Amino acid sequence: MAASKSKKSAAPAKSAAAAKASAAAPAAKPAKPLNPRAAIIAALNAAYWMEIETTLNYIANSINLDGVRAEEIKKSLLMDIPVEIGHAQTLGKRIKELGGKVQGSAAFTPGQARLQPPRSSTDVTAVIRGVIEAEDAAIAQYNLTIRLCEGIDYVTQDTCIRLLAEEETHCQEFHSFLKEYQKKG
Ligand SMILES: [Fe+2]
Ligand SMILES: [Fe+2]
Repeated sequence: MAASKSKKSAAPAKSAAAAKASAAAPAAKPAKPLNPRAAIIAALNAAYWMEIETTLNYIANSINLDGVRAEEIKKSLLMDIPVEIGHAQTLGKRIKELGGKVQGSAAFTPGQARLQPPRSSTDVTAVIRGVIEAEDAAIAQYNLTIRLCEGIDYVTQDTCIRLLAEEETHCQEFHSFLKEYQKKG
C-alpha cells in the first residue's frame, strides 16, 4: 500500500524582527487567553498531577528507605499516601463538575526531580527535603488556584483552601523532621 504523502507545514521562523512585525500586523493573532473557567480547570489539572506524582514518590520512598532512622519517615509517608490520593480524587471530581475531563497517564509530565528515591537508601534527609519541596509546590499551586477563583468560583476556592491547609500541615511536619534529622547528622 502506497503511503500517502504527508504535507509538511513550514513553521514560520521567529526572529526578533518578525516578532516586532507581527506585533504591528493585525493578521498575527496572539494566543487566545483562557476564559476564567478554563484557567481554573487548567490549574486544577496541574494540582491533580502534582498529587498523583507525590503519591508515586511517597510510595517509592516509603518502601526504599532503610535503617532505624528511616522508620519514622516511612511511617509518615505511608500515612500520607491515602491522603494525597484523596486530594487527587477531590480535584478530579471538581474538574469534572466544572465541565473538564480527568486525563489519563499519557498526559502526565513528571516534575519532582528532588523527590526521586536517593542513591543511598539510608539518605533520609534527602527524602525529607524532597517532600518539603513537593509540599511547597502544592502549596504554591493551591494559592494560585485560590486567587484565580476569587469572585468567580467559591466552591473550587473553598476546596483548594481545605487542601492548602492539609499541605501546610504536611510541610510543617516535614520541616520539624528536617530539624531533628539534621541534628542527628
Ligand atoms: Fe496533597
Ligand atoms: Fe501533602
